[in-house]
Parts: sequence; C-alpha cells; structure tokens
Amino acid sequence: MNLKQIAAEHAASFVEDGMKVGLGTGSTAYYAICRIGERVRAGLNIQAVATSEASDKLAREWGIPIIPFDQIGRLDLTIDGADEVDPDFNLIKGGGGALLREKIVAANSDKLIIVADGSKAVQKLGKFPLPVEVVPFASEWTFKALENMGCQPKWRMDGPKQYLTDNGNLIADCHLGAIADASELNVQLNMLPGVVDNGLFVKMADVVIIAKEDGSIDELHRP
Ligand code: A5P
Repeated sequence: MNLKQIAAEHAASFVEDGMKVGLGTGSTAYYAICRIGERVRAGLNIQAVATSEASDKLAREWGIPIIPFDQIGRLDLTIDGADEVDPDFNLIKGGGGALLREKIVAANSDKLIIVADGSKAVQKLGKFPLPVEVVPFASEWTFKALENMGCQPKWRMDGPKQYLTDNGNLIADCHLGAIADASELNVQLNMLPGVVDNGLFVKMADVVIIAKEDGSIDELHRP
C-alpha cells in the first residue's frame, strides 16, 4: 500500500472544473499531479502553476495547462507535501528544496491542502532539519549568523558541489531539535539579511490529509 499515493489521490478529488490549482513538489505531490493529469486527459478543465521546475515538467507531460505565476491570479487551491506537520497545522517544508516557490504559491491560494503519510505527523516540529534558503552573496556570513542563532546549519550538498535551488540559491539545513515557537523562529530567520525564506509554514495549511498505516485517511480541517 502506497500511503503517499493514497493521500495525494484523495486530495486530487478536491480539484473541480474551472479551478486554478497550485501543484506542489516532492514524492507525495507527484501522485497528486499524476492523478490531476489523468483527470485532465479525461476532460477536466483547469489552469495550474507549479512550485518547481520538476513539477512543471511533470505537469506538462500530463498535458496540464501551466500558466506563469504572474498571469494566473488567485489560486483556488494548492496541493503539496510536507516534511513535518504539527497538531496546529504548522509545517516544515523544503526537503526537496522548493520551499520558496511553495510558500509563494501557498500564500496565493485560497486553500492549501497538505498530503502526507503518517510518518510526517509530529507533536513538535524540528526533528527534520529546517531548510533555510540563502542567497549566494555573502553566504558564509549568513551561515555564521545562523550558527550564532544556535541553528546548527549544514550546507545542503549535491555530490561535491553545494545544492542550488531553482532560484539559484543555497540551502542551509538547520538541525534545531524541537522548535519551541515556530512563529517566532520564522520571523527571526526571515529578518536575517541573506536569508530569502525558510521552510516553516506557520498556520498556512487549511486541510491536512494523512494516510495511515492501515490505509485509512485522516482529513483534518484547520478550525
Ligand atoms: C519540497 O521542497 C518539499 O517541501 C516537499 O513538499 C516535502 O519535502 C515533502 O516531500 P515528500 O513528499 O517527497 O516527502
């Protein structure tokens, strides 16, 4: 039983004819894009925007109409994965490096639907290293500033080279342990010059769909 697929395909059923849809990134969002692609091939009429080059390519392969972000206007919903989800609907995202576009697309969506298997549901965020997107200019200075904040950053690598995001930036993965106040940390990190954004999505998720070991689904709506 593929739990990521179960959650993602359930979320894909939220997409209705005529909607403008944000397409997430990662191995769970992959299944949502494929399911939406199947429905498009069967006649579903939507417009979409993708959160990464990889998802853009996948969507186009399925024939999903992809519109440039600045031309699509407000989105009805976005379906995306997460690395961690807490009981207050806060998330860590960016394990796949797409956090910046994901956050922009989420902020432009009436509804953010998060899809995940049960392993992503945690009581406290922070066991998963928090990705922080950093501009290459003065990157070592920014890295030091993250160290001084106690974030225990590590540059994300791509073989022998530093990993580059779709935006040409670097990722510092921060080994924080349990995060006491996600909202406060989100603000602190984004105030650092050199930080573009970070993977904390504070109360941005509207619906969380978790597929559990037995194949059943929890569909949680933010109050
Ligand atoms: C991409 O940058 C991420 O935010 C993903 O949504 C997140 O890492 C979850 O990925 P998986 O669905 O592959 O676990």
